[in-house]
Amino acid sequence: MEKLIIGNLKNYMNFSETINYLKQIEDLDNVIICPSNIYIPYFLNKKYKVGIQNILENDKTCTGEISAKQAKSLGIDYTIVGHSERRINFNETNNIVNSKIKEALKEKLDVILCIGEKLEEKDNAIQILENQITECLKDTELDNIVIAYEPVWAIGTGIIPTLEEIEKITKNIKDIVKKIYNKEIKVLYGGSVNSSNIKEIIELTDGVLIGKASTDAVEFLKIIEVVNS
Ligand code: PGA
Repeated sequence: MEKLIIGNLKNYMNFSETINYLKQIEDLDNVIICPSNIYIPYFLNKKYKVGIQNILENDKTCTGEISAKQAKSLGIDYTIVGHSERRINFNETNNIVNSKIKEALKEKLDVILCIGEKLEEKDNAIQILENQITECLKDTELDNIVIAYEPVWAIGTGIIPTLEEIEKITKNIKDIVKKIYNKEIKVLYGGSVNSSNIKEIIELTDGVLIGKASTDAVEFLKIIEVVNS
């Protein structure tokens, strides 16, 4: 099965850094890049695919927001929803995430749903994840959705779960989805993925969602090379 590699550029780079980065990733194929909204047009019509980092949960008028319809009309194929940075900073609940998913699917954007437990929830992770899955995916079709398991404590910290934990939890997520929806779903891992740990992680998962390391073109290319080798 082909592994999914997704780069989440967040708000890391300024304009000149973005232009420089674009030159270095020009030949990339078979990856999905999620740039900062204002730079998205520079990433379109390349061999790689483009995702947006968030969309509005409805089609109402709202200053400062981007609707799924607008994203789709520009040529964007994917949207991340439910990233923990948004859940934490903007109080995006599972119900809001569920609305975002419905809105995305209505406009034919494929969904990268982020779920993950906080450090203080670690002992109870499976219950937390099951709850996130049940509430976020309520009344949705799963065909165009992948799940990214991103423990909140692993994002941007350089700390990753043990390989046993990654294997066990991604399998648990698949089992939960299978139990509730009787369908298979791709489960990626995200949180401090880099060129030193990718080899082991990619063997255990359907792909990776990469933040910081994807903003360094040389590092990102190294990661991709390992995945494709
Ligand atoms: P990180 O971020 O790779 O910088 O830890 C991952 C993410 O937030 O998706």
